[in-house]
Order: sequence, then structure tokens, then C-alpha cells
Amino acid sequence: MGNQQEPQFNQWYDENTEVDSLLRHAAANEAEQHDELSLRPQFLREYIGQAALKEELSVYISAAKQREEALDHVLLFGPPGLGKTTLAMIIANEMGVHIKTTSGPAIEKPGDLVALLNELEPGDILFIDEIHRLPTNVEEIMYSAMEDYFVDIMVGQGPTARAVHFPLPPFTLIGATTRPGMLSKPLRDRFGIMSAMSYYTPEELQEIVVRSSDIFKAPIKPEGAYEIALRSRGTPRIANRLLKRVRDFAQVQGKAAIDRVIVDIALDKLRVDNRGLDETDHKLLDTMITYYQGGPVGLNTLAANIGEEAETLESMVEPYLLQIGFLQRTPRGRVVTEAAYAHLNIPYQRKM
Ligand SMILES: Nc1ncnc2c1ncn2[C@@H]1O[C@H](COP(=O)(O)OP(=O)(O)OP(=O)(O)O)[C@@H](O)[C@H]1O
Ligand SMILES: [Mg+2]
Repeated sequence: MGNQQEPQFNQWYDENTEVDSLLRHAAANEAEQHDELSLRPQFLREYIGQAALKEELSVYISAAKQREEALDHVLLFGPPGLGKTTLAMIIANEMGVHIKTTSGPAIEKPGDLVALLNELEPGDILFIDEIHRLPTNVEEIMYSAMEDYFVDIMVGQGPTARAVHFPLPPFTLIGATTRPGMLSKPLRDRFGIMSAMSYYTPEELQEIVVRSSDIFKAPIKPEGAYEIALRSRGTPRIANRLLKRVRDFAQVQGKAAIDRVIVDIALDKLRVDNRGLDETDHKLLDTMITYYQGGPVGLNTLAANIGEEAETLESMVEPYLLQIGFLQRTPRGRVVTEAAYAHLNIPYQRKM
């Protein structure tokens, strides 16, 4: 590689690649994006819960800063809405570096990745959301980028095609995924820091709700915040979303502060039950009980029955039901537990 020409990278990628279109935000619409931004803690000390993970990260961050090196690559994994994106932003703030945000499916070809990496300054962070959806040919050039800070890619087509070697600045890749099992082993092995996010306790969620109410300037009673916490499926994003709806009810009813009563009224209207189960959860459990005697049922059969994607069920619906012990996974499929029958007020028939 030694006698190779200095890569004339900017000459070709500008016309092929819109770097801006590779950078995107996770929230669904502008209003939601705005709220997510204002509610997002900026530093580790404001980040509620995930204590063990925070402590670990703060050690790695301090050590990397002392050595004046880029932080090792970080993989954040766990169910949606637990704070992966938030944590990636916080890591950038704590390190005092820039962060560029993109997602697995947005990077369609190796040139896209190179275009993004080329914009980084030493120590900067590239955040790839849904990293399990990175195309294979992009993933393959990621290996050398992560390990030795260079990429070799083919430029041009046909007879004029040639391999070009691009050295990269030392950088940190932060990958986020709800489905770590779908990452290939070589990619997974290149993350020095693996952080599993877990569901939040009601007490932690209560703290998050109180913090968000402060930001919204919507007074809330502790029991009101706790009730929202109980119904938020262990998930800060859901807690914040429910808080917004409850705030609307409180405002229209002229309540000075959000209390337990108004939370109950609002969340019953929204059909979020006292364990946080919504209509999809009920549909799933009801279908399993009514048509399959509580299971075992295969995921795909179930998905077809209730009109949801199997992937949605597996990554968004099931994990919480498994976590609270309403569902069990067996080799032959999913099974509804006795606790779920009790919650639904349906007599449980023990199976042979
Ligand atoms: N530890 C926390 N403390 C306070 N607020 C939090 C915390 N974690 C998450 N939040 C809030 O929850 C919202 C959702 O978090 P975030 O977008 O980081 O989740 P995510 O794990 O990236 O979700 P997805 O998998 O859908 O991308 C954020 O806007 C933030 O306000
Ligand atoms: Mg996210």
C-alpha cells in the first residue's frame, strides 16, 4: 500500500453521496423529536437508572480522556425506548467530541460509510442506530475501520475500477440495536464495550416522570408520577408519552397538579391497564388463550393471527411480557403463564 497515491476522496464522493441524507433522527415526527430533545438528559449525572452501566461507562470515559484517546467502540443493546440514543449523545458530551448519527439501513453502500467516516475528526463518534441492519458489504469494510482505522474500497467501475486505501482518524463507533442476536460475530467481537440496557424500576421511572414534568412545567404529585411509572412497561419513552397525555387531561379538567385520580382516568381512556399492557398486548394474550389454550404457539402463527409483523412482536411486544412473567418462551413456542391468566381474570387450567 506504501506507494499508493494520496486518496482523492473528496473528488468523487461529493457527487455520489448526500451525507446529510445519511444522518437522521430516530423520532417519528417533528413534535416528538422536539420533545425527545428537550427531555433528553445531556450528561451521565442527569441520566436516571442503569446504575451499573453508568458506573462502568464513566470509568472508560475518564480513562480514555486521560490517555487522550478515542473511546473504545460501544455496543448498546436492549428494547426500544430505554435510552440508547440518549446514552450515545451523553457519551459524546462527556468525551467532549462531535457525534454523527445515522442508521444501519441508511448506509446502503461502502461509499456511504466512507463518506460519513471522512467527516469525523480524531476522537469523534459515529452513532449507528439499528446496526443489525447494516448491509453485509458495508459491514465487511467496517471491520478494518474499527480495528485499525482504515478502509480499502473499490472506486470506479469496469476497467477503471481500482482499490483505494483510506486512512481514517481514530474514532469511536457506537452501535445501538434492539436485536443483538442478529449481529454477526465478527462485528460483535470488535466492540470493546458491550452495554446491555435493562428495563427501569417503577422508582426510576417515577424519577424520570418527575424530571420531565419539571421540564414541561406541569406540577405532579408523587403518587401520580408513580402510577404513570407503573404503567410504562419499564420504558422511559413510554413514561414520557403517557405523561404528555395525562397532562392534557389534567389541563382540560382544570387540575392544579397531576394526581393519581387523573392518571387513572386518562390511562383508562387510553386503554393502558394497571400493568402497562395496551391493546396489542391484550390481543396477543387473548388470541393465545382463546385459540391455542394458552400455547405453545409459534411466533409467526401468532403474528399472522393478530396482524402484526413477527419482528415487531419479537422486539417490541414480547420482551416486556417475558420480563413481567406473563409469557414464557419454550422450544415449541410461546406460552401464557398463570400470572397472565390471573391478571386477565381468566381461570387457569394447568396443563399436563
Ligand atoms: N435514563 C434516562 N433518564 C431520563 N430520561 C430518559 C432516560 N432514558 C431515556 N430517557 C428518555 O426516553 C426517551 C427515549 O430514549 P431514547 O430515544 O434514547 O431510547 P432508545 O433506546 O434509543 O430507543 P430506540 O430503540 O427506539 O431507538 C428520551 O427522549 C429520553 O427523554
Ligand atoms: Mg434510539
